[in-house]
Amino acid sequence: MSVASDQMEESVEHKQHVVNHNHTAHHLKQYFFPTEHVPRLSASDPLASQLIAEEKPVVLTDTNLCDTALKWDLDYLAQHMGSERYMVFLSNNHKFKYYDEAKIKQYKTNFVPPTRRVDLTFPEFVKKLREWKPGDERVYLQQGLNNTVGQAIVMDFLQFNWQWLNMQQKNNNWGPLTSNLLLVGMEGNVTPVHYDEQQNFFSQLVGYKRCILFAPEHYERLYPYPVYHPHDRQSQVDFDDPDMEKFPGLKHLQGMEAVVGPGDVLYIPMYWWHQIESLPHLGNTVSVNFWYKVRNSNNNLP
Ligand code: OGA
Ligand code: FE
Repeated sequence: MSVASDQMEESVEHKQHVVNHNHTAHHLKQYFFPTEHVPRLSASDPLASQLIAEEKPVVLTDTNLCDTALKWDLDYLAQHMGSERYMVFLSNNHKFKYYDEAKIKQYKTNFVPPTRRVDLTFPEFVKKLREWKPGDERVYLQQGLNNTVGQAIVMDFLQFNWQWLNMQQKNNNWGPLTSNLLLVGMEGNVTPVHYDEQQNFFSQLVGYKRCILFAPEHYERLYPYPVYHPHDRQSQVDFDDPDMEKFPGLKHLQGMEAVVGPGDVLYIPMYWWHQIESLPHLGNTVSVNFWYKVRNSNNNLP
């Protein structure tokens, strides 16, 4: 099962000091909790299907899910994303913590959004990214793919491995695919720890991301904001500066992690907490995810 990772080694030769044979990275920031590696498996390995069925994370190395999108670098996207405006978040630091704009209005206390949203054309975004220098606001494009993206992108999208996706959807009795979020970020950008309410096949296209995950059982140990808060589904804990006295459960936190690179697909099960970091020094990152609703079930997860 090492063929795919052997090929991967070739393509990251010059980055061996950071991403090694098993795609575990050295020189990664050490956090205050222990982690295990998310298994890296071939999509044809029965264990991979089993993990997905059990709603456990797994990195699949050879789904060929988005092969036609492995060429979606900044130049290609700037050329083909058309003249539409896309959602770009600006942050004064490396963190891009999500907030629900609708909940800000209802929220009584003063809420200062940690990031600022602007709508830019793709070439405008690329210019900002390329001209970035330390001290400038960081940028992160996060836009659901829609039919304004341009013909070439649509053609690439149509050639994704829908057969594999549809098979997973069917075998696991998932509901419909609701959206594909395109994420284009700078090295060093961090999406802080949160959970989503859908199943996610997270497909890495360009660059490298470190993904840290926690099982839903860690819900209380990650101290989510109240549901009515604009940061609903986000943890109140700052991993860079954890307040162990305010959040004593952090002592018992245990996670899993993986570094994903081009061609990898990480299954992020619904309700699993995750923090996603574009690795420093390894260039910009491009990812696209596949979010699936689940059918009404009688589980009692948070
Ligand atoms: C996700 C997610 C953040 C990122 O796909 O659910 O949280 O920075 N992505 O890739
Ligand atoms: Fe998420």
